[in-house]
Amino acid sequence: MWTLKRFLTPYKSAAILAPLLMVLEVAMDLLQPKLMSSIVDDGVLAGNLSHIVTTGLFMLLFALIGWVGGAGCTLFSSKAAVGYGTDLRQELFDHIQKFSFRNLDTFQEGSLITRLTSDITQMQTFVQMLLRMFIRSPMLIIGSIIMAFTISVKLALILILSVPILFIILYILISASYPLFASVQNKLDKVNAVLQENLAGIRVVKAFARARQEKKRFQQANEDYTHTAVKAWRIVSLNAPVLSLMLNATIVAVLWFGGFQVVGGDIAAGDLIAFINYVTVVLSSLTSIGMMMMSFSRAKVSATRINEVLHTQPDIQSGDDMSRKGAGQVEFRDVYFRYDGEHTLSGITLTARPGEKVALLGSTGSGKTSLVQLIPRLYDASQGEVLVNGVNVRNWDLQDLRSRVSIVLQESILFSGSIRDNICFGRPDATEAELRAAAQAAAADDFIMNLKDGYDTELGQRGVNLSGGQKQRISIARALLMQPEVLILDDSTSAVDLRTEAIIQKALHSLMKNSTTFLIAQRISSVKDADCIYVLDEGEIVASGTHEHLMAHSSHYQAIYYSQQRKEDVQFG
Ligand SMILES: Nc1ncnc2c1ncn2[C@@H]1O[C@H](COP(=O)(O)OP(=O)(O)OP(=O)(O)O)[C@@H](O)[C@H]1O
Ligand SMILES: [Mg+2]
Repeated sequence: MWTLKRFLTPYKSAAILAPLLMVLEVAMDLLQPKLMSSIVDDGVLAGNLSHIVTTGLFMLLFALIGWVGGAGCTLFSSKAAVGYGTDLRQELFDHIQKFSFRNLDTFQEGSLITRLTSDITQMQTFVQMLLRMFIRSPMLIIGSIIMAFTISVKLALILILSVPILFIILYILISASYPLFASVQNKLDKVNAVLQENLAGIRVVKAFARARQEKKRFQQANEDYTHTAVKAWRIVSLNAPVLSLMLNATIVAVLWFGGFQVVGGDIAAGDLIAFINYVTVVLSSLTSIGMMMMSFSRAKVSATRINEVLHTQPDIQSGDDMSRKGAGQVEFRDVYFRYDGEHTLSGITLTARPGEKVALLGSTGSGKTSLVQLIPRLYDASQGEVLVNGVNVRNWDLQDLRSRVSIVLQESILFSGSIRDNICFGRPDATEAELRAAAQAAAADDFIMNLKDGYDTELGQRGVNLSGGQKQRISIARALLMQPEVLILDDSTSAVDLRTEAIIQKALHSLMKNSTTFLIAQRISSVKDADCIYVLDEGEIVASGTHEHLMAHSSHYQAIYYSQQRKEDVQFG
């Protein structure tokens, strides 16, 4: 947990000032009971009015100084804590941006959200509390005990007895609640996971009329969280009654023994009042320490969870080979790949020469997406080499590689913002002409110009106000605008009609004639004119060649061809 303290470094001065100002407040607080006893003994009991007035004024003055110290401490400790939280949150966010797809597979999104929000808040609260309390409480306790001893050693012995007892009780309560708070954060993860998944898929939920089941799922996670949290707080809440019991017992003891001493003339009445004041301060400061320990144990849980993310090395590290400009030659040399468990791809060997159009065909789950994701290093091959322009992708500068290899993912993901922003996502500096050209090649220009605001049309979150085919075309335009050397289209025309698909293909043909295109498609009609078609089955290439070659030599390909032929006959015949 202490590794996270480096985030406090930029706020060092505020973090040092806060406790110093607190010393001022505490010192003033400690003086008050003494002055009060002087008012009682030398003023009230001695009938000395001017002493009451001057001492009263001093009390006011000290209170004012204490107030300045306290307010200053709050100000600086808040400044340091908020700064700390902000920096930590930013660092965590930045680190997550470096995560590879594989890293993202391990942490659930819901859990990342909890870590970015609740866990950071927990740390922030702790830092603020620490800066205010870690000086205040111990100083108040020690100071008050010393003051108590100066008043009466005999009475102070009562404190020596009650303080350790209270301390032990607090310690037990806190140790009991610590494991519960770890589990509270985990339950909160679950709540956020359900929430996140539900919101991302709320349309599916509605379409399948699953709202009731989802409600139940959420309710379960939510109640589970509440249950654990209540259990933890129940233990914590025992603090208050235990404290007030100890406090009252101690005061009764002090009054009992002190009363005899006052009567016997060993101690003045005012001193007894001051003494009781000090006792109250000692015991209530102990609760503050209890609260601080609580906050500490919660922060420790959160720190562990934050460090888990910060210490996860992005499993894809950039190489440093820059500027390997070429025309987009791609080569797979005996490549194996697995997510975890069995191999998803085995013994893949293929070459795509610059300017070629390579097609991947295969049933669903055969590994097409997995294969192309290795080219821009969204995942790393487990064995074998993937080369772009003759250089192993592992040696490429990652930024450079990904600016040359553009992928249109199977699922079109757009962002809220204008259509223009979305297409220019990878190249915000593109000119209007480039933008239009990319959109035209993706057969998107026409429909965009028909929208009321054209390219400035605002999209909802994830582009909800567009049709599936429109989203696909914007995704293609976004990739084309990168003017990539390698363009990968993962089933990117599945949602457009055959005529639009033909338009896109034709435009691509002229636009991408100097670079390489990987085309994944379900329909043979979409890949017929490819320079080479690879047929994938269960992660292996079972046949390759041109359409004509495959028609003549591959039974696998023929089977796919005829099955689609029949379907089309049914559809169009
Ligand atoms: N992130 C992942 N983690 C674990 N397994 C995965 C992951 N993504 C895909 N798989 C598995 O890898 C195999 C190949 O999936 P892939 O997405 O490459 O198939 P595909 O050929 O693209 O299928 P489709 O035509 O349906 O898009 C499947 O069995 C799938 O379950
Ligand atoms: Mg796929």
